[in-house]
Amino acid sequence: MSNSFVAASALTRFGNPRMRMPQHWQNATVTALADLTPTVREFCITPDTLAVQPQTPGSHLQVRLQIADDDTQTRSYSLVGEPNAASYRIAVKRMDAGRGGSRHMWQLTTGDRLIISEPNNYFPLSFDSDDYLLIAGGIGITPLISMAQALARHVERSHARVRFCYGARSTDELAYRDVLEAALGERLALFTRDANQQINFDAEIARLSATAQVYCCGPVPMLDALTAAWRAAGRPLQNLRFETFGNSGHVETQSFTVRLPRHQLELRVAAACSLLDALETAGVPVLYDCRRGECGLCAMDVIAVEGEIDHRDVFLSAHEKVASTRICACVSRVVGGITLDSAYRATA
Ligand code: FES
Repeated sequence: MSNSFVAASALTRFGNPRMRMPQHWQNATVTALADLTPTVREFCITPDTLAVQPQTPGSHLQVRLQIADDDTQTRSYSLVGEPNAASYRIAVKRMDAGRGGSRHMWQLTTGDRLIISEPNNYFPLSFDSDDYLLIAGGIGITPLISMAQALARHVERSHARVRFCYGARSTDELAYRDVLEAALGERLALFTRDANQQINFDAEIARLSATAQVYCCGPVPMLDALTAAWRAAGRPLQNLRFETFGNSGHVETQSFTVRLPRHQLELRVAAACSLLDALETAGVPVLYDCRRGECGLCAMDVIAVEGEIDHRDVFLSAHEKVASTRICACVSRVVGGITLDSAYRATA
């Protein structure tokens, strides 16, 4: 186990990993769309043949996107809200400066076809605590909605407490606010940057019981700040559980160079492409599963860095990130250039 925190990854076990973990891909149709905020759109996706699979709070769905004739990419989206028997629901924030996945999703209309996986969960909710704090930043709200709904029911049957801190850029970007208010009432606290409101992690942590669990999804800088506050409070690291979205780094997304001496390759990774996608396109075998910086399967050994790694995963420990001896190829990026080793070994 690499991460001392219980990131989604740390709860996952893999028996016999292959170059790609098996996914049960299936055809599906976009059956409904709803604009929740100026930049967040909800998609209802109905599978063609297989029944909608059971989904636990924190689950996500993978979607194959045909960005261009020669460019198929895979994205992971958290499943939103209570499961239903007919369809899956995801919400996508439009990122105009992103890698193209969200722009592609926003071009879809009802009746359009998709290829989707079955649900997976690397960010599971446990019901063994007496006190829960959920923290969401921006589109990080998506995995936490079903957690909030499940915990709202749970606390009715137990003596557990729950509080939800939800931060967004502006009031009109608070997607699912009505759903959360209905589930949690006064246990929901809203923070918006346009009102100069910020979540005070020190104060929020101080009001928790000794055995409280925190579940957080948001941009990497938010997770860094929460992690620092959690450490400073001397809290048990296993009770801080988080997930992020891979397009949120410490520096702006930009192109970079990757060298693989074992393959005698030098590649340019475009700003619109992940390191993992670039390696796959070049025919370099790389293990992966979640493509969200959670499972750690895609972590590669770093031989040298000319510049700086922008670690965007929640799998590697803080110590490993500082050491920069490994990089999660699915989400993390580089400013400058990097030389990597791969799992490939020529047979004698
Ligand atoms: S594929 Fe899971 S961390 Fe990269």
